[in-house]
Amino acid sequence: MIQLATSRLDGADRSRPHAHNQDRLHAPDRGRPHFPYRSSGNRLKDVSAPLLEIDGLHVSVDGTEILHGIDLLVGEGELHALMGPNGSGKSTLANTLMGNPAYEVTGGAVRLRGEDVTAWAPDARAKAGMFLAFQYPEEVPGVPVVQFLRRALSARRGMDLSVLELRLAIMEWLGRLGMDPAFGDRYLNEGFSGGEKKRNEVLQLAVLEPDLAILDETDSGLDIDALRLVAGGVQEVRRERAAMGTLVVTHYQRLLEELPPERVHIMVAGRIVASGGPELAIELERSGYEPWLP
Ligand SMILES: Nc1ncnc2c1ncn2[C@@H]1O[C@H](COP(=O)(O)OP(=O)(O)O)[C@@H](O)[C@H]1O
Ligand SMILES: [Mg+2]
Repeated sequence: MIQLATSRLDGADRSRPHAHNQDRLHAPDRGRPHFPYRSSGNRLKDVSAPLLEIDGLHVSVDGTEILHGIDLLVGEGELHALMGPNGSGKSTLANTLMGNPAYEVTGGAVRLRGEDVTAWAPDARAKAGMFLAFQYPEEVPGVPVVQFLRRALSARRGMDLSVLELRLAIMEWLGRLGMDPAFGDRYLNEGFSGGEKKRNEVLQLAVLEPDLAILDETDSGLDIDALRLVAGGVQEVRRERAAMGTLVVTHYQRLLEELPPERVHIMVAGRIVASGGPELAIELERSGYEPWLP
């Protein structure tokens, strides 16, 4: 079960040693390009690399190329929306960002604060502050939600937390997300309704405190009240963690009314075909994906 705590991805390559990745995490300057210094008030401040940089990313699944060169920058504190029709490659990108080994990077790179994480295992990425809320969360029979969160957060923080230490935070967030307090003792996603699975993903986001949150269709399967609670939860996490970057993958504009994005990107057939401000999502709602189809 340890791997569950450290990697939220099924089928992760756990044989791959990633001790060197951890060393790099604790020595962020090594192997990193030098960035210019800019004066900020009276202090010299490191102008760091973007939080997330996707650079010419090509991804294949079972030998078929699905993503044909994706470029995307997400800065600290920014919320970006990734929209696109079904089958355009949104989940492929989300899974690749988290290092799911089923998705083979055949070109380009993913960088987190300038560090090339393209070859990192999912658990190293999670420890480095990346988080993916799955479109289709897996059921994990026998592992209660509280236990899962305890292990995941302990791995993230590099210390052993007790269930007691976590219970309060979990209870608070269950309340904020409109969830039953008994939820924490249920087995992870087992018998959860579609809406409960999505709220549980946001509960994990809130408790794990990532630096980069990727939400893959967290709005799907939610009625409007649940969608508001979920979006409100994400906004509360963002308020408390102002530097967190967020990539919201969604099919519909509705979620973006609750989670206003700085930037909107449209993906069609494995390519980003348009990027713009929030008006792009509104335009899309009016016209559908038709104008952007090949
Ligand atoms: N595990 C997989 N095995 C084979 N094909 C896949 C797999 N995942 C995705 N695909 C294919 O990749 C394309 C993009 O899928 P996906 O990333 O799920 O799109 P979206 O999330 O935008 O709906 C689709 O044509 C889909 O059939
Ligand atoms: Mg998808």
